[in-house]
Amino acid sequence: MTNPELKEALMAKARIAVDAYRPIGQIDRRMYGVLVEHMGRCVYTGIFEPDHPTADEHGLRQDVMGLVRELGITVARYPGGNFVSNYRWEDGIGPVAERPTRRELAWHSTEPNSFGLDEFMEWCRQAEVEPMMAINLGTRGEEDAVNILDYTNGELGTQYSDMRRDNGHAEPYNVRMWCLGNEMDGPWQVGHKNAEDYAYLAGSTARAMKMMDQDLELVACGSSAWEMPTFGDWERTILDLNYDEVDYISMHRYVDPDVQDRASFLAAGYDMDRFIDGVIATADAVGAKKRSDKKIKISVDEWNVWRLAEWNSMEHGFATDDWPFAPKRIEDVYTGADALALGGMLISLLRHADRVKAACIAQLVNVIAPIMTEKGGRAWRQTTFYPFSIGSRIARGTAYDAVVETARTSTERYGEVDQLDAVVTWDKETGTGSLLALNRSLTEPVDLSAALASLGVSRVVKAQILAPEDLDAVNTADNPDAVAPVPHAVELSDGVLTTTLPPASWLAVELA
Ligand code: AHR
Repeated sequence: MTNPELKEALMAKARIAVDAYRPIGQIDRRMYGVLVEHMGRCVYTGIFEPDHPTADEHGLRQDVMGLVRELGITVARYPGGNFVSNYRWEDGIGPVAERPTRRELAWHSTEPNSFGLDEFMEWCRQAEVEPMMAINLGTRGEEDAVNILDYTNGELGTQYSDMRRDNGHAEPYNVRMWCLGNEMDGPWQVGHKNAEDYAYLAGSTARAMKMMDQDLELVACGSSAWEMPTFGDWERTILDLNYDEVDYISMHRYVDPDVQDRASFLAAGYDMDRFIDGVIATADAVGAKKRSDKKIKISVDEWNVWRLAEWNSMEHGFATDDWPFAPKRIEDVYTGADALALGGMLISLLRHADRVKAACIAQLVNVIAPIMTEKGGRAWRQTTFYPFSIGSRIARGTAYDAVVETARTSTERYGEVDQLDAVVTWDKETGTGSLLALNRSLTEPVDLSAALASLGVSRVVKAQILAPEDLDAVNTADNPDAVAPVPHAVELSDGVLTTTLPPASWLAVELA
């Protein structure tokens, strides 16, 4: 054998084949959501900064708005996060000068309430995204849930709907999706509850809300993390009591690069698969016991990469007496490796498109976010911006399981995992699709061959790859493009796409 032949023979291989008659499921448009929380600088000096040179008459930063549109988000969950569990939504409506300033317990800061529900709805209108509201089941309950629902969606003629009109918004906002609290399984949550107490409160709140509007889509809190000691029992208890009342169970997943070897970190999609499969198994076990035909949907309404050291230090309370306004909190600066892990998590979400019907990257700006800003200054894209923005643009329609054969790669945490992870999507309406693939190996390239003929693929529109030379490289205000996707060579012949992925790379091919 000559040298090139030997190299070719030794190269790791992966084979993808798609059967158009065996889809996973329809990708819900809510797959590309975000969390907008009153936390740190996500709202204040993030999306909202009245004094910023680009702010419009509503105080909304238009430089950020441009990046938000480019990110391609479809739904935004608001106002938290942990924040919501001590929030009085009425504080954030009406004349700004009359709104109260309060101590905010979840993040130990001062909340001026100059941004509230109506400002958020204006932001959603401009960003062309669907609002997803979370209600406070930490310190409040059924009555306030019904009041905010009436303020948000009610036809005029009641105290709260008329209040909305008096605040300048006669038309109901018609918000469909509502989260029944946030992370109520977490001892850090204001008003944290055990599973039984939360199950009763969520159920009675859901019933009251559906008495107002039976077509609402309600999300019960699932587990804040796979590691929660209550995971499994929590979901079972909540769904056992509320299977008919709720439509979704939530799950939150953050992966921390600093507590694992890099190979395991790049397998973050494997970790996500495991968690989602566990939630599906638990929900379906309850459904089977009830002999129900209904399938509970999953809302992964917080997911991301997050270096948790700062949070862990906060867990013991904030040992300070000050209550800052819009302080810098968990402003993680993302690396090239972080973008790859996030791309892998996105592949996992799409692979579960039959059950994951909503997902929100958390959060949107500054706070563990794809977009960063300076107060009064610039805005830029973090490395993690790219897998999300590319996915949201090209991975639509129907998802197909893809990998039939691949070399394996070693990780400390999970042992051997597939070296190549991938998902294929195809949108019949537009005749376009995508192949998203991650090479999880830190050292080995992989030769990929993908049989896509059954979808009718005849053309590659664009192929781009994230393959950071330096996995620790980051994007900053001064060097905003250090990590960005670049064009990649792929061949398509008779419906078979071939290419080579370098080690540690995330490929996105747009097909037609
Ligand atoms: O996104 C940051 C925080 O993470 C959210 O407020 C909370 O829901 C989760 O613990």
